[in-house]
Amino acid sequence: MILVVGDLMLDIFLLSHLQQEEQATGLLLRGGGSAANTAAWLASEGQSVTFVGCVGADSIGTALMHELDGQGVALAVRQVDGAETGAVVVEVQPEERVMRSSRGANMLLSPADIEAVLVPEVHAVHITGYALLCESGFEMLRAAGRVAASKNALLSFDPSSVGVIDALGRRELESEMLAAGVDILLPNALEARELSERANVEDAVIQLARRFHQVVVKDGAGGAIYGSDGQAFRVPSTTVVPVDTTGAGDAFNAAVVRALREGADIRDAVASAIALAGVAVSRFGGRPR
Ligand SMILES: Nc1ncnc2c1ncn2[C@@H]1O[C@H](COP(=O)(O)OP(=O)(O)OP(=O)(O)O)[C@@H](O)[C@H]1O
Ligand SMILES: [Mg+2]
Repeated sequence: MILVVGDLMLDIFLLSHLQQEEQATGLLLRGGGSAANTAAWLASEGQSVTFVGCVGADSIGTALMHELDGQGVALAVRQVDGAETGAVVVEVQPEERVMRSSRGANMLLSPADIEAVLVPEVHAVHITGYALLCESGFEMLRAAGRVAASKNALLSFDPSSVGVIDALGRRELESEMLAAGVDILLPNALEARELSERANVEDAVIQLARRFHQVVVKDGAGGAIYGSDGQAFRVPSTTVVPVDTTGAGDAFNAAVVRALREGADIRDAVASAIALAGVAVSRFGGRPR
């Protein structure tokens, strides 16, 4: 069993051709949230996975839970009375993607939500930086670390965004990651540079790999870079026509965690992650289906 801890959101894609008051198409609604997406990709890869998160006690929250359940994910989701289900507006422009989120019930996630999951075997715990923006903050990472340690499981962490790193504090985040026992660090290139205070992404990987067992950095169309034996190795991305990169990093994380948990070496784990991320960028939305 893999535990995935973090956000469950409604993604509202605002497409660039939505210009008039009344149109036949232009908005897409999809289940989202970085952690929930990773859970869905893990399930699609045949893994048994439990998602830990919070939504509002409303019909949208119920629908998001139902959808995730249908995608093969076991739910440890708490519905909170009086809280709004989290939602994100994703503005899709030809050259960029702008996200604005209303985190709602995701802010109320607590360590007790992780500790309440009673499953005999846990092979990996994956938690996102977004999960640390909730009121419990670093307590979430500490709880994930305790569960991983008690189950002899891998602990993987995606810092989620430079904004998250800055909000938490670079130094505080680093010492909390080390204290929690993060085994697999999965930032993107911007986040890796921010965390390491290195301008060059290869240098960032080498620096981070001194502290963390496995470091894999996502670099968009440039593929990914991993650290091994004090060196940085780049694996190019698959050639795809990108339709929507939402969830690419989440799919990538799912494949890395799956492969490492199955005992693959880091090079093969990254190759499978590049392949799965290629599938994610060639379709709309952050989930496999
Ligand atoms: N334009 C692209 N063409 C091909 N592959 C891509 C492209 N963009 C992303 N990828 C693949 O997706 C992986 C993860 O994407 P990216 O580097 O954008 O992660 P991220 O910034 O964490 O994404 P997210 O917004 O999902 O958090 C890359 O390592 C690469 O394999
Ligand atoms: Mg990311």
